[in-house]
Amino acid sequence: PVIYAITPTYARPVQKAELTRLSHTFRLVPALHWIIVEDASKPSALVGKLVNKSGIPHTILTAPTPKEWKLREKDPNWKKPRGVLQRNRALQWLRENLKPKDKAVIYFADDDNVYSLELFDEMRWTKGVSVWPVGLVGGLLVERPILNPKTGRVTGWNAAWRPERPFPIDMAGFAISAPLLLSRPNAKFSLTSDRGFQESHLLQALTTRDKLEPRADRCTKVYVWHTRTESPKLNAELARRKAKKNMNDEIEV
Ligand code: UGA
Ligand code: MN
Repeated sequence: PVIYAITPTYARPVQKAELTRLSHTFRLVPALHWIIVEDASKPSALVGKLVNKSGIPHTILTAPTPKEWKLREKDPNWKKPRGVLQRNRALQWLRENLKPKDKAVIYFADDDNVYSLELFDEMRWTKGVSVWPVGLVGGLLVERPILNPKTGRVTGWNAAWRPERPFPIDMAGFAISAPLLLSRPNAKFSLTSDRGFQESHLLQALTTRDKLEPRADRCTKVYVWHTRTESPKLNAELARRKAKKNMNDEIEV
């Protein structure tokens, strides 16, 4: 099965660094198709060049987040959901381009996380929805499904943050088979989901807890980390920009 990895991305000082790291991971994954969805009204040269250079099979799409749904500079990051319309655009593309019998798996790969290669081996044979632990998220070292030791099925989660969520799991912690996605035309994300309920909103339209397929050695291994990149301090750069002197405009960073 081909893995369709969906990555929402937006222009910012660290964008090229994030996408470089991610592309270098994806170069090592066989049979992966990268769906990059730029949060912009048209594709950018930076993303296009980087992705072409990578040699990874890919599709570039765009979906701008309307201004009222964008985080403002001083907003805490949890104030508005991120990546929602971009992931929905990718789901729409998959529904238009896959056939019901295509063997494929869909994974939401944000541009700032760290992915170990084992993760892709684990998700590739997903029949419905597979799940595994995610490191460094939800106020814990690791957020993970709890299994019944006898049956090996998911009986709950160890989540600390809003554990009452139907699926207290990060976007990086699950994959979906394409036939399942295509059989549920209404499954998508919503801008108006409560904070932290995006994953639950989608998963509730696709599956139930008892059907989840645990991976990563019965959910005892961490193969993905929800790292977040610090915004660089660019005071001097901004001062030069204001003075219109010595700006680094001629070099792509
Ligand atoms: C957490 C989850 O890991 C995300 O999957 C979820 O979308 C997010 O919370 C949320 O609640 O909306 P976090 O690290 O805080 O993640 O989110 P970001 O990594 O900042 O954004 C998620 C993805 O959306 C990234 O790939 C990012 O490049 C993209 N994004 C972010 C945009 O396309 N546009 C934006 O304005 C911001
Ligand atoms: Mn992130």
